[in-house]
Amino acid sequence: MAASGLSRCLSRGPIPTPILSWLLYRKDKPGCSRYYRAAICRKLKVPLAIEEVPTRPIQPDEVRVDVHFCGVNFADILTCQGQYQESPSLPFTPGLELAGQVLEIGTNVSTVKEGDRVISVNNFSTMAEQCIVDQKKLWKIPDGISYQEAAALPVCYGTAILALEQRAWTQPGETVLVTAAAGATGLALIDVASNILQAKVIAAAGSDEKCKLALQRGAKAAVNYSQGNLKEELKKLTGGQGINVVIDAVGGDVCLAALCSLAWEGRMVVIGFAGGAILSIPSNLLLLKNVSAMGVYWTRYQKENFSVFSRCMTSALRYCQEGSIRPYIGGVFKLEEINDAFEHVTQRKTTGKVILSVK
Ligand SMILES: NC(=O)c1ccc[n+]([C@@H]2O[C@H](COP(=O)([O-])OP(=O)(O)OC[C@H]3O[C@@H](n4cnc5c(N)ncnc54)[C@H](OP(=O)(O)O)[C@@H]3O)[C@@H](O)[C@H]2O)c1
Repeated sequence: MAASGLSRCLSRGPIPTPILSWLLYRKDKPGCSRYYRAAICRKLKVPLAIEEVPTRPIQPDEVRVDVHFCGVNFADILTCQGQYQESPSLPFTPGLELAGQVLEIGTNVSTVKEGDRVISVNNFSTMAEQCIVDQKKLWKIPDGISYQEAAALPVCYGTAILALEQRAWTQPGETVLVTAAAGATGLALIDVASNILQAKVIAAAGSDEKCKLALQRGAKAAVNYSQGNLKEELKKLTGGQGINVVIDAVGGDVCLAALCSLAWEGRMVVIGFAGGAILSIPSNLLLLKNVSAMGVYWTRYQKENFSVFSRCMTSALRYCQEGSIRPYIGGVFKLEEINDAFEHVTQRKTTGKVILSVK
């Protein structure tokens, strides 16, 4: 708004607070431009637009981050189609996670400083050149981890660590079945189960190429569930002993076959329904072999149990810095190519983590 516009506004009475703060913030800080590009969902089920949006001043506990990379998650796609468990009000910027550099800190911020390299989880906001987050939701990226690798950690590795360590109590030597195994979360699960927890992973995926990748990334065996009978294959692979831990991201018949394949006192963790069908679990199956079925909704831990959430993030960063885990980046798209990135994921064309390059 030009100065003449401002005086016209003032002559009409009090200015609403958001406009006033924006007007006061118009003086640029070094590195903070007045506008930044962001992916915007204005209407569900239509392609996203890239728009220039005005910056706003940060609050005392907030941090402005210059986004370098942000992860694409299945949840972003579902949210933009109105099919996710959370529905942000329109318009919104999708994106749950980012890796970037601190541009500006609020007056109360003590955890990071300008120039620090950070990752963050911040529901629906990160697919943009800038993102404002509460200081609590930032973790410093240790030396030796690139921005790209760091962007692949929060959601996938956070979920994998939570599901395998905290929920399923996976023990060394146990058999872990991972479905959608060559996907972003799938490969993270294989990495954590094999290399941190010393479990034996059986990967299940929708093509021979995806099975091959899962084997290259640490699975001991793989089953292509688009061919043959998953339950029979799992019986053969475990010598009839069954699976100790199932982490299922697909749902429907795949989930049922996995549940039927659990061993005595096996644990199933449901993390998603990428196939679209939600299984109604026959509870007799739980009783017969004393098995447990549970769920994981990773981002909800931010609200319900932040210390567990934060511990998963710091573990992921530590495992990565130590070289015990290696995120697999399967595709890098530019911010402007966000609709192509979404399409690749929904068409099952991607393997590993897909990230958006924002620079
Ligand atoms: N609960 C949580 O906190 C949490 C956290 C992260 C992810 N998730 C869930 O985990 C799943 C995987 O997410 P992601 O971000 O890692 O995505 P992703 O694995 O990159 O993509 C989804 C995979 O699901 C499989 N799939 C099966 N049926 C499909 C269908 N009809 N359409 C598309 N894909 C299908 C595909 O593998 P195949 O071709 O091998 O079948 C595909 O590669 C999603 O359901 C997501 O919501 C949940």
